[in-house]
Amino acid sequence: MIHYGIIGCGHIANKHVAAIQAVKGARLAAVCDTDPIRLEPFMGGDVVEYTDVEEMLAHPDLDVVNICTPSGTHKDLTVQAAHAGKHVVVEKPMALTLEDADQMIEACRENGVQLCVVHPNRFRPAMRRLKERVESGAFGTFSHANATLRWNRNQAYYDQALWRGTRRMDGGVLMNQAIHNLDLLLWLMGEVEEVASYQATRLRQIETEDTSVSILKFRNGALGVIEAAVTVYPNNLEESLSLFGERGTAVIGGTTAHRIRTWRFADLSEEYGNRIIQQVDEDPWGVPGHQCLIENMTAAVRSGKKPSVTGEDGKRALSLVIACQQAAEFGRPVRIKELLAESGERHSPTRTRGMEK
Ligand SMILES: NC(=O)c1ccc[n+]([C@@H]2O[C@H](COP(=O)([O-])OP(=O)(O)OC[C@H]3O[C@@H](n4cnc5c(N)ncnc54)[C@H](O)[C@@H]3O)[C@@H](O)[C@H]2O)c1
Repeated sequence: MIHYGIIGCGHIANKHVAAIQAVKGARLAAVCDTDPIRLEPFMGGDVVEYTDVEEMLAHPDLDVVNICTPSGTHKDLTVQAAHAGKHVVVEKPMALTLEDADQMIEACRENGVQLCVVHPNRFRPAMRRLKERVESGAFGTFSHANATLRWNRNQAYYDQALWRGTRRMDGGVLMNQAIHNLDLLLWLMGEVEEVASYQATRLRQIETEDTSVSILKFRNGALGVIEAAVTVYPNNLEESLSLFGERGTAVIGGTTAHRIRTWRFADLSEEYGNRIIQQVDEDPWGVPGHQCLIENMTAAVRSGKKPSVTGEDGKRALSLVIACQQAAEFGRPVRIKELLAESGERHSPTRTRGMEK
């Protein structure tokens, strides 16, 4: 049995609880929240409740810690858990800076523990099908790809917790809401080389941007567009991902990128394509993504093999967000390679100086 403990028992923790309960060989052993009210649902059961992280990490049976706290706290908690010898599942975004992401990856590596970042949308039926098509080469040469997020997060959403909409803890529409779609874009299209971007705070009273448009050059030569906003009236309209190649077009849409809208490939009849669309429509969610991740993490802890969404994957999505933010701030395109090199230097100045000699 692999024993899990959750830190941060707010909204998303519910999905972690359900996922752990649904996975054979996994057990929820402990929960921790600095706010004791958040622990009330667990009282009277066989889960041990803590208000102090250090105390929970001393729990002798705990194997994995799931970090479900505000995003700006993820780095310190991950490093702390890794030093206590616990494997880590950390909610997205894994961190708000590349230096923090590097420290998390390093702490887990040094302590010989696994690190999994929660990007559960990869497990949706439509996304699995799309990944298969990409890997089989069915698109031929890609011309371009679009990631679109047209959602509504109203002012009440930002006012419900102090951390929401702040630079230090939330990070904005790309960092908090669109990062799942960016992870999918990278997973399917490969590395991004360069980014240009505009960002604005148009309608919400928050520190971070609520509206963002960016254009991309992928390493494979294709172009890309990201549109992300939480200002769409009156509620969530669309999250979609569109890939365009010389022999294929696929659009995954719906409010949260879960239904196939277009599925046209030179090697498939239109009728067969429509059947795939229908099959996905019959079960657009499949097994919940959090459950797939916990199942995968449980196996990874047992086997020592890496989980299917690693710290490096989380850092890749984070670097795209930061490249967009910097491109907007500096008013010029940003190359991801240079961004990573600069953050590597800041993270490890002595090592970089040593290498220059
Ligand atoms: N994967 C997804 O689809 C998804 C969806 C929503 C949120 N999230 C992510 O999950 C994280 C939490 O979001 P939420 O909406 O659940 O937030 P929330 O505000 O509802 O809950 C956060 C909880 O963490 C607790 N907390 C804060 N600091 C703590 C600490 N140091 N130790 C212990 N407890 C602490 C708070 O008291 C609160 O109960 C964020 O990083 C967010 O981006 C992911």
